Amino acid sequence: MNLTELDTPAALIDAAQMDRNIARMQSRMNALGVRLRPHVKTSKCLAVAQRQREAGAQGITVSTLKEAAQFFDAGFDDILYAVGIAAAKLGPVRALRERGCQLTIVVDSMAAAQAVVADGYHFEVMIEIDTDGHRAGVRPDEDRLITIGRTLHDGGAVLKGVMTHAGASYELNTTQALEAMAEQERSRCVHAAERLRAAGLPCPEVSVGSTPTALSARQLDGVTEVRAGVYVFNDLVMANVGVCGLDEIALSVLATVIGHQTEKGWALTDAGWMAMSRDRGTQAQALDYGYGAVCDASGAPIDGFIVSSANQEHGIVSWRDGAVCPDIAQRLPIGSQLRILPNHACATAAQFPTYAVFDANGGVTPWERFYGW
Ligand SMILES: Cc1ncc(COP(=O)(O)O)c(C=O)c1O
Repeated sequence: MNLTELDTPAALIDAAQMDRNIARMQSRMNALGVRLRPHVKTSKCLAVAQRQREAGAQGITVSTLKEAAQFFDAGFDDILYAVGIAAAKLGPVRALRERGCQLTIVVDSMAAAQAVVADGYHFEVMIEIDTDGHRAGVRPDEDRLITIGRTLHDGGAVLKGVMTHAGASYELNTTQALEAMAEQERSRCVHAAERLRAAGLPCPEVSVGSTPTALSARQLDGVTEVRAGVYVFNDLVMANVGVCGLDEIALSVLATVIGHQTEKGWALTDAGWMAMSRDRGTQAQALDYGYGAVCDASGAPIDGFIVSSANQEHGIVSWRDGAVCPDIAQRLPIGSQLRILPNHACATAAQFPTYAVFDANGGVTPWERFYGW
């Protein structure tokens, strides 16, 4: 099978570009002297994670226990479940650990720490640190950091370390700001680890990471591992942040032109929001790509064209600036194929049960992905 024979919409992976993205991140982490624990929620795909492991990644990060179970069954046994644990999930975590999975969980509250120790099982636990005010975590200077650490340690849990995710880095777009955010993520997480150690508590691991900070850090002293996810595909949000070019985005949606509204300068495609996802992550950024950036069938961006609007199964392609393209029907004829670059690769990938992975020779292989919880 080759690309032109695929049913559209289809989620395409450019295997050569994905491999370059994997190699870029891995060589950066090697040079910075830290382990890379990729976040597999981006691809939710065994074949992708295997390529990351072959390139040198150690362990994986997951966002659901379903991912943990599926990857463990496929031979990944060092897994960090990087979403705060809920008491009701301790049973499934324990079941996976009793099958031999080295599954680590995360807490950021006394209530969660107490639930973990109340279970009576020796879970391995990390404390989540809030280094940027973006989402979850204990701030590095809070007294409760030590209380949570002591509750876990004295209660029989294995206090494995601290972890943080500088999600605020997605709002940046200059090298200077990204480097400063990477250093803030590093220094605040290391500070939390030092406080725990000074209190006599174990804290061997310091885990940080987001794609923008991982690709911007100048040094990672005191850090033991980095977690990055979206780098494997890249997307338009990352391009706007400034950590990749459009030509480094390995995931796209293959679409077919199905109609026109010539007086409005529109081409209609069969890739609506059901294919692209509802994620409008570039809306708040300097360059708003609507529901995606339009490329020709070979993957070359067609300057100025975006998916400006989307219904469930219709995408509306037009010029970004709102001007009417006078010859849209000639430029994008009915039946022609387009590749649409996604705002947010994790969200777009999640719309599809299978990837169509193509190689340099144009051959296409299906790769399954996990979905659900
Ligand atoms: C806890 C955690 N760690 C790491 C990552 C990876 O971030 P990115 O996809 O920017 O590489 C995420 C992404 O949301 C995350 O939630």
